[in-house]
Amino acid sequence: MLAKTFALVSLAALCLAHNTGNGGGFKKTCEVSAKGAGQDDGPTINSVFKKCSRNSKIVLDKYYVVDTLLKTEGLDNVEIELSGTVQYTPDIAKWSPQSLYLVYQNATTFWFLSGNNIHMYGGGTIDGNGQVWWDTLNNTHNSGTAGGSSTTFARPIPLTVGNATNVVIENIHEISSPFWNNFVYQSKNVTYKNINIRAVSYSSSPTANSDGWDIYRSDHVTVRDSVVENDDDCVSFKPNSTNIIVANMWCNGSHGISVGSLGQYAGETDIVEDVYVSNITMMNAQNGARIKVFGGNPSPTSTVGGGSGHVRNITFKDFYVKNVDNPVLIDQCYSTDATVCAQYPSNLSISDVHYINVHGTSSGAEGSVVVDLECSDQCQDITAKGTKISPPNGTATYICKNIASTSQLDFNCTAPSTA
Ligand SMILES: *[C@@H]1O[C@H](CO)[C@@H](O)[C@H](O)[C@H]1NC(C)=O
Ligand SMILES: *[C@@H]1O[C@H](CO)[C@@H](O)[C@H](O)[C@H]1NC(C)=O
Ligand SMILES: *[C@@H]1O[C@H](CO)[C@@H](O)[C@H](O)[C@H]1NC(C)=O
Ligand SMILES: *[C@@H]1O[C@H](CO)[C@@H](O)[C@H](O)[C@H]1NC(C)=O
Ligand SMILES: *[C@@H]1O[C@H](CO)[C@@H](O)[C@H](O)[C@H]1NC(C)=O
Ligand SMILES: *[C@@H]1O[C@H](CO)[C@@H](O)[C@H](O)[C@H]1NC(C)=O
Ligand SMILES: *[C@@H]1O[C@H](CO)[C@@H](O)[C@H](O)[C@H]1NC(C)=O
Ligand SMILES: *[C@@H]1O[C@H](CO)[C@@H](O)[C@H](O)[C@H]1NC(C)=O
Ligand SMILES: *[C@@H]1O[C@H](CO)[C@@H](O)[C@H](O)[C@H]1NC(C)=O
Ligand SMILES: *[C@@H]1O[C@H](CO)[C@@H](O)[C@H](O)[C@H]1NC(C)=O
Ligand SMILES: *[C@@H]1O[C@H](CO)[C@@H](O)[C@H](O)[C@H]1NC(C)=O
Repeated sequence: MLAKTFALVSLAALCLAHNTGNGGGFKKTCEVSAKGAGQDDGPTINSVFKKCSRNSKIVLDKYYVVDTLLKTEGLDNVEIELSGTVQYTPDIAKWSPQSLYLVYQNATTFWFLSGNNIHMYGGGTIDGNGQVWWDTLNNTHNSGTAGGSSTTFARPIPLTVGNATNVVIENIHEISSPFWNNFVYQSKNVTYKNINIRAVSYSSSPTANSDGWDIYRSDHVTVRDSVVENDDDCVSFKPNSTNIIVANMWCNGSHGISVGSLGQYAGETDIVEDVYVSNITMMNAQNGARIKVFGGNPSPTSTVGGGSGHVRNITFKDFYVKNVDNPVLIDQCYSTDATVCAQYPSNLSISDVHYINVHGTSSGAEGSVVVDLECSDQCQDITAKGTKISPPNGTATYICKNIASTSQLDFNCTAPSTA
């Protein structure tokens, strides 16, 4: 009895006022209830976020089934304690038209989180229920174009931080995303730490496009101390990603830490600059440290290359590879027909790229090639030191093409075969 009274008193105190000490002053606490029995909790979540959009702490500590788009916007100084589970329904017919369309690569999202000074934490889980989406994609080959576009089959992203500033997301699990796991969209000063991502299929269908993070038109983004188990990029820097830090990551089964793809659309300018990637473990992956840029194109309306811009000041440091097909890769004719690329070199320049202590083993998928730096236009100031990558068999080979600074590489380059 005494214990119960005590608990009630402290709960009441919590509801009245709670000083967070982060400059935001007092915050009211808003608990989100769950309906249970598989009913849709989306409308409740949206209404609590609306009611508690300023100076609040929102508690999501239940098991929530979500069948309605989460659009939580205009937040200001809000803490989100996600200690429960948010699980999206695998309702393809409903989600395809209702998920929020984000234009870039026709991506769509289940949850658009937007505002200023947002802190999400709590050890909970966001479950994308991806298996049904992966199996459907595998069997119908209806990918939409990239993620979405089609209102009959758009695979939404479980969490998008969009049009947001000063956001921290930490201690969250993300499982079974139908598409990319995290999208940082038109945002500034966003940090992710201790995120555990697992997109692993239990059938023979691949977990297509299961990128850990995609960053787009965003500045000052940090991704650190996280574990990613997937089958596409671990972290990917899409057009206009600037001042990015990626550190202390463990990635298994992925397609690497990737700059790009960039330069896909003629008439557009894509910039990726000031990126620092360090202390990475990259296992069983298609790529390690990768830069992918489309070649040029004569058509002013091309969507298969011809874009301009630059990739500049990129560092990959203390990068451990194990069983990786292409540990170090620059491809400036990405997805471009070789003859078109030879005639129209890329209009998107690559310079000031530094590889420091990339070490470990390749898979042998590319024979003895462990480094492949191929530029269609000339790439400037590409340097490497401490490179120590062994192929499973034989002596390592290093391919270079149109690299102006071969004297600043700590290996001897071979020209690509012209077969
Ligand atoms: C989006 O989808 C439409 C229609 O399917 C397609 O024409 C367009 O090229 C796609 N856009 C991008 C950026 O992929
Ligand atoms: C994000 O901001 C842009 C520019 O201010 C605006 O046009 C767009 O509608 C916003 N997106 C969403 C989903 O609110
Ligand atoms: C970035 O966001 C964090 C978390 O909201 C905040 O503490 C920090 O002051 C912000 N940094 C800048 C430069 O605004
Ligand atoms: C995925 O597609 C392949 C070939 O198209 C097929 O053999 C396989 O059975 C499919 N997997 C599932 C789980 O349906
Ligand atoms: C490097 O990252 C791993 C996690 O992958 C972490 O355990 C380790 O402490 C990090 N090392 C440094 C020097 O930060
Ligand atoms: C890494 O992924 C592979 C599949 O690519 C899986 O077999 C293996 O168990 C994973 N390793 C760890 C340590 O999780
Ligand atoms: C990237 O930034 C540049 C310079 O501000 C701008 O011209 C370009 O349109 C932006 N590109 C994209 C894809 O947003
Ligand atoms: C290169 O990028 C890193 C990471 O953002 C930054 O710390 C550094 O100042 C940049 N260097 C230059 C010369 O701009
Ligand atoms: C693209 O590069 C070619 C040379 O390779 C040049 O003639 C053309 O003006 C460039 N186009 C743009 C838009 O920069
Ligand atoms: C390495 O060479 C051995 C003997 O020639 C061969 O059996 C094995 O398949 C090779 N391994 C790889 C990964 O190429
Ligand atoms: C590169 O080749 C030169 C000449 O064959 C040789 O002296 C040098 O040791 C080689 N450097 C490396 C890093 O293998």
